[in-house]
This record gives sequence, structure tokens and C-alpha cells, in this order.
Amino acid sequence: MKQEMSELFKGFSKLNYSERLQALKKYNILSSEDAHYLEKGGLQSIDLGEKFIENVLGYFQLPMGVATNFNIDGQDFVIPMAVEETSIVAAASKTAKWIRENGSITTEVIGQDIIGQIQFAKIKSADEFKKQILQQKNYLIETANREVAFGLVNRGGGVRDLTVRIIDREDGGFMGVVHIYMNPCDAMGANIINQVCEYLKEPLEQFTSEKVTMCILSNLVDTKLTKATVTLNNVDPVLALKIEEASRFAELDPYRAATNNKGVLNGIDPILIATGNDWRAVEAGLHAFASREGRYKSITKWRANGSTLVGELIAPIVVGTVGGVTALHPTAKLGLKILGTDSSSGLSRVIAAVGLVQNLGALKALTTVGIIEGHMKLHIKNLSLGAGATEKEMPYVIKKLEEILALRKRISLANAVEVLNDLRKKTEV
Ligand code: MEV
Repeated sequence: MKQEMSELFKGFSKLNYSERLQALKKYNILSSEDAHYLEKGGLQSIDLGEKFIENVLGYFQLPMGVATNFNIDGQDFVIPMAVEETSIVAAASKTAKWIRENGSITTEVIGQDIIGQIQFAKIKSADEFKKQILQQKNYLIETANREVAFGLVNRGGGVRDLTVRIIDREDGGFMGVVHIYMNPCDAMGANIINQVCEYLKEPLEQFTSEKVTMCILSNLVDTKLTKATVTLNNVDPVLALKIEEASRFAELDPYRAATNNKGVLNGIDPILIATGNDWRAVEAGLHAFASREGRYKSITKWRANGSTLVGELIAPIVVGTVGGVTALHPTAKLGLKILGTDSSSGLSRVIAAVGLVQNLGALKALTTVGIIEGHMKLHIKNLSLGAGATEKEMPYVIKKLEEILALRKRISLANAVEVLNDLRKKTEV
């Protein structure tokens, strides 16, 4: 059972850097070595980078922070987030506090299998193809488990099913696609499912007398979905209704849905990065799932009932806590340690919860003060840095930009450059 963290969360955002590390050490979320590693700036040696990719020059460093106040399925979480966009961590923590004080977040994983695809570009007879494969279904599953996925079988997973799909080709012919369903346990499973598919290529070609074109996993994993639900009480009924209307906008209009889902990914991607998971895979799957009804839709939905607001997110969030970068990159390992989760389903449930909470924070801001106030105020610091302000010049530039924002409700890099030039002219005299 995880520890209760209300005391840690209280005032956390007001602490300075070393106090933050100290507080996390006090809760055994970080060890002294972890804190030292972070203080040093994380990964230093280029050796690991050389192992990951080719033609390495260095590391691209993103800030990694923690979102606080999250209580998911009755447990407190400190959420590691690696991201460059101002206000994401603050908005997640603030919205999580609102829910912590007035409601709950619950999550579940629906299904357990990932999907591998084996393509036969053009088959002679759809019926024969299907029959020949389905006759050998049990043999194919058994041999794949015995020869390739035995490690997963030992851990309670492995290949569990196989189906045959026939796709109509534009030239009037048929394409055959075999789907392999495999429980990857706590791994994301990409390597093993690809190996299973490639291993099955030969027996499938033998049984069907057809030719395999390619084998690869699918990122549209609608057989393993993660669901998060937020229930929020004591909401101003006018606000609750506005959030419902904002949600309906994203449910009905793909232009809005894209931005809504981007806001959800603001919560999701930073955790994927901080835990060494493949964020491109999750993004691709999430967008494909959002289009499953033939039109791109939001993956979140909010409904008001008086002063109660209920939100839901369902998406394929296939992640791993073993294998790949998760096990190799010390910062990814630390990300998982901070989260305190070592199961892939636990991680995907936290990710879904944070995505939904981030969406609520955005919808609340958009339907009340607007994006400028919450977002740009914090962005002022970035603009000042972007304009080239020094440490000494920053307070003046920030103050001036805040005044411009309050007056004109708009602010840009050009304003920051202008303010800075004025200041420099003044100090020259
Ligand atoms: C900005 O990064 C994200 C938002 O645009 C999301 C949304 O519109 O829901 C604020």
C-alpha cells in the first residue's frame, strides 16, 4: 500500500529546488544518490546515447518536474513529467487538487492483448485462405508460444488468439491479414510480437500457398484499452455545463477534437518520456482510436448533472515497465521509481488519469478566464528569455510584459524585444 502524501503536496510548488529534493527524500521517493544524480544534471556520459542511436552528438535535455495532488484509485501519486511547455505541470497539479478535495479518479484496463499483423498483399481465394489458417490456428498459437514467446508464457502471458481479416482491394482482389493477439505482461511487447509474426511467416505461407508481404505490430490496440473516470462534486452548475458544452464541441467537430486531444496529450506524453516509453506509438494509437467511427473525435467526454461533473477517457495506452529504454536509461528508471509503479497496467492507468485531468484543467481555463491568462502569464518568462533578457533584466521585462498583457490582453515576442530594447536604451543613458 502506498503512503498518504497530503503533507508532501501541501505547499510543494512554493519550495525551491533543493527543498523539493529534500521533501521527496523525506518521503523515500528519492534516495540521496537519486537527488545527487538529478543535481548533477542527469545522464552525463555519452556511452548510453551511443548504444541507443546512431551518429550521436549529445543529449537533448528537457526539464523533468513532478505533478502533485494526484489521488488515483485511492492512492497518492507523485507524477514525473518531462516537458518543455510552461504551465502543464502547474495545471495538472492544480486540477488534481480540485479533484482531490471534491471528488475522485478511478481507472481500469480493459483487455490485455496487443496486436501483430501479417499481410498477404493479394490472395487467390479469400475463403480458402481463411479456412486453411483457421484449421491450423491452435498449432500456430502453440508453436509461436513454444518457440518465441515462451518467456511471456512463463509470466502468464503469450500468444492467445489469431484471427483472419479479408480486405477488399481497389483492383477487385483480396488482401489477407492475419492478426496475432498476445499478452505482453509488463512489457510494451513490440519486439516480441514482431518476432512472433516473423516466425509465423513460414508456416503460414506453407499452409496457404500464399506469399507474406510484411509483418509488424499494430499501434491501434483496441484490444487493450485504458479507461479513466473523474467524478467531481460541488462544481458551480454553470461551470459544469460550460465544460460539458466544451466537451460536446470536441465530440462533434474534428477541428476542435484535434486541439482537445493535444491538451490530453499534454498530460500523457510527458509521463511517457519521463518513464522511457515510446510516445510516438501511444500518440499514433490514440489518434487512430479517436477516428474509429470514421470521423476524428475527442477521446474524452464530460457530462454535467447539477453540481456533479463526470469525465471519461478511453484510449489504447500501451506502455512497458520492463525492457527497452525503461530498463536502460537511469532517468527513465528514476521516473518509474518516483511514480512507484512497476506494472504496465498501473502505469497506463496513471497516464490515462493524468491525460483526463489535464483535459479538465484546459476546459476549465478555456470556459472561464480563457487560455491567455493561465497560459501566457507563465509564458511571459519564456518570452523574456527568448528576447535575450539577462538574469538581471528579467524582473523588469516580466513586470512590463505583465502590464502589457493586462492592458491589451495580448502579448508576443515582439513586445518582449521592444521592452528589452527600451530598458537597454534607458540604462545606456
Ligand atoms: C495547449 O497546449 C492545450 C490546449 O489548447 C488544449 C485545449 O484546447 O483543450 C489549451
